[in-house]
Amino acid sequence: MFHSKLVITNALMLILFLFMYESEGASNSFGLLSVGDGANINQPFAHQKVNLSVYYNSLCQSCAQFIIKDLKNVFDSNLISIVNLRLVPWANAHINNNNSSISCQNGPDECELNSLESCALNLWHKVDIQYELINCFEFLAIRGTINTWKECLDQLGLPMELFLNCFNMGNGTQLGKAYINQIAHLSPSPSFVPWVVVNNQPVGKDYANFTHYVCKAYGGVAVPEVCKSPLK
Ligand SMILES: *[C@@H]1O[C@H](CO)[C@@H](O)[C@H](O)[C@H]1NC(C)=O
Ligand SMILES: *[C@@H]1O[C@H](CO)[C@@H](O)[C@H](O)[C@H]1NC(C)=O
Ligand SMILES: *[C@@H]1O[C@H](CO)[C@@H](O)[C@H](O)[C@H]1NC(C)=O
Ligand SMILES: *[C@@H]1O[C@H](CO)[C@@H](O)[C@H](O)[C@H]1NC(C)=O
Ligand SMILES: *[C@@H]1O[C@H](CO)[C@@H](O)[C@H](O)[C@H]1NC(C)=O
Repeated sequence: MFHSKLVITNALMLILFLFMYESEGASNSFGLLSVGDGANINQPFAHQKVNLSVYYNSLCQSCAQFIIKDLKNVFDSNLISIVNLRLVPWANAHINNNNSSISCQNGPDECELNSLESCALNLWHKVDIQYELINCFEFLAIRGTINTWKECLDQLGLPMELFLNCFNMGNGTQLGKAYINQIAHLSPSPSFVPWVVVNNQPVGKDYANFTHYVCKAYGGVAVPEVCKSPLK
């Protein structure tokens, strides 16, 4: 019994492998740049979820606006069903060569909030929880009451102890160094924030219109309603 199941599984794997090999070959022969309108079936990975990455710093006003207002639509419109959303704090921060401390564009308060958000991203892997928590922080930041950030964890019913542990042990700062490194390796490097990247393509000043780019990059069959609207 067990043995025959294994054989079937292997056969399926082989078929799957051949299929993937076949489709990769096909897209390569069309060339990477043959971007058509609509489904983009010629793009490799087009059937996969679209990577939507947002590089920002936590006390930047336009970043906060973008996160609170525009990015909310990812969840409200169910665009999230075809998106891997990645929030990356620590843009416009750098590591001092001398003592390896971090400096942030908007001062130590921003480094602190970046750290909190890094802890949020790394303690909870569900993207809706990550978003809700960061959205709550950014909302308070805009209102000028970020010192009450603990309320955000209460509101979402998230355990305080784990979070305080991450923050107080300096893990947020440690994570920050990794994020700063990632941002330093972006090509092209961000020239403003929020810096929104869809499958490695920065969308530039048109970042509020990211849905359009995500829909265009998606070639799978599970097209969400928001991508069918004529405006997108
Ligand atoms: C780093 O340390 C050296 C020697 O202590 C000093 O000359 C230099 O100005 C420092 N650099 C910065 C950016 O503080
Ligand atoms: C680290 O060095 C930077 C400049 O090189 C300085 O502004 C900062 O105060 C130093 N931080 C610590 C903790 O020594
Ligand atoms: C903090 O980092 C240490 C080691 O880098 C790790 O063992 C620990 O689990 C982390 N704690 C939290 C709360 O992330
Ligand atoms: C999205 O990112 C993941 C990991 O960073 C990568 O493996 C995958 O190929 C990317 N997908 C696309 C469509 O670029
Ligand atoms: C988004 O950009 C596309 C292409 O530039 C444009 O057709 C569309 O109207 C824009 N949508 C919004 C909401 O700005």
